[in-house]
Amino acid sequence: MNEVLKAIKSRRSVRAYMEQQISQEDLNAILEAATYAPSGMNYQTWHFTAIQNATVLEELNKKIKGAFAKSEEPRLQERGHSQTYCCYYHAPTLVIVSNEPMQWWAAMDCACAMQNIFLAAKSLGIGSCWINQLGQTYDDPEVRAFLTELGIPENHRVYGCAALGYAVAAPVKERQLAEGTVTIIK
Ligand SMILES: Cc1cc2nc3c(=O)[nH]c(=O)nc-3n(C[C@H](O)[C@H](O)[C@H](O)COP(=O)(O)O)c2cc1C
Repeated sequence: MNEVLKAIKSRRSVRAYMEQQISQEDLNAILEAATYAPSGMNYQTWHFTAIQNATVLEELNKKIKGAFAKSEEPRLQERGHSQTYCCYYHAPTLVIVSNEPMQWWAAMDCACAMQNIFLAAKSLGIGSCWINQLGQTYDDPEVRAFLTELGIPENHRVYGCAALGYAVAAPVKERQLAEGTVTIIK
C-alpha cells in the first residue's frame, strides 16, 4: 500500500495529547498542506490561524464555554458550566479554519483543507482531531470579539478547527465501516 493510502487508513481522531509542542517546521508543513487543498473556482478565500499559546487557548475555551452557558440546550449548558470541559482536549496547537461565507461552497473548501491538515499531521507522526465547537459559537458576541483580537477577518465564519499534538499512547481503535456506502456502476 502506498504512503498516502496508509496515512488515510491509519489516521484516527486523537482526544488525549502530550504537552510537548510540535515543531515550527512541522507546523509550517501542515499549514502549507492546508493551502494546497482544492477550492471552488480556486478562490482560496480561507484563512488558517494557528494558536500555540496555552493562555490564548484557555481564554478561547472560556469564551466558547461562555457561549454554551447561554444556550437553551441542556447538554451545551452543562459544558458551559463545567470546570473541566476543554473542547480542544488540551492539544498544544489549534488551527482555526475560517472562510468568507459568501460562496455556498466555502464549507467544502474548508473541509478539504481540514483533511489535508489531518493527513499531513499523520504523515509527520502528529495526532489530530476536528474540533467543532468554535463553528457553533463563532457568532456569539464575546467569542467574535476574541476572534477579532486574534486577527480572524470580521467577514469570516469558522468552519472547523484542527487540534494538533503528540498523542498520549492508546490502543488504535479498529475502524468500524458503515455498510452499503459505496456503489460502482460499470
Ligand atoms: C465535521 C466534523 C466535526 C467533528 N467534530 C468533532 C468534535 O467537535 N470533537 C471531536 O472530538 N471529534 C469531532 N469529529 C471527529 C469525529 O467524531 C471522528 O472523525 C469520527 O468519530 C470517526 O473517527 P476517526 O476520526 O477516529 O476515524 C468531527 C468530525 C467531523 C468530520
